[in-house]
Amino acid sequence: MFKLIESDAPQRRRICEIFVDGEPCQAMIGEPLAAALLKANCVPMRYTPVSGAPRAPLCMMGVCFECLVEVDGTPNVQACATPVREGMHVRLIHGARSIGQLGGAAQ
Ligand code: FES
Repeated sequence: MFKLIESDAPQRRRICEIFVDGEPCQAMIGEPLAAALLKANCVPMRYTPVSGAPRAPLCMMGVCFECLVEVDGTPNVQACATPVREGMHVRLIHGARSIGQLGGAAQ
């Protein structure tokens, strides 16, 4: 669906491996994480906690908050404003968190 536009700067294209819901995925270091996830067909990127509606990046510039994902254990990270780093672990958000996902000791 999405593909990279070729440019004249191949030296800037350093491929790395990231993990999306535990699955390895190739991305370019420094590209927006949302772009890498779209190229990897990771859509919808999340589901709303209340209605469960599927969501995907809309503005790609940090305004709409439709691209929220978990990155290296940090929830609600804007994927469009986060550059790809080698080995980052991304978790797509599937609805509301359960008590067991909130961290700490669940009673
Ligand atoms: S796509 Fe709109 S804030 Fe990320």
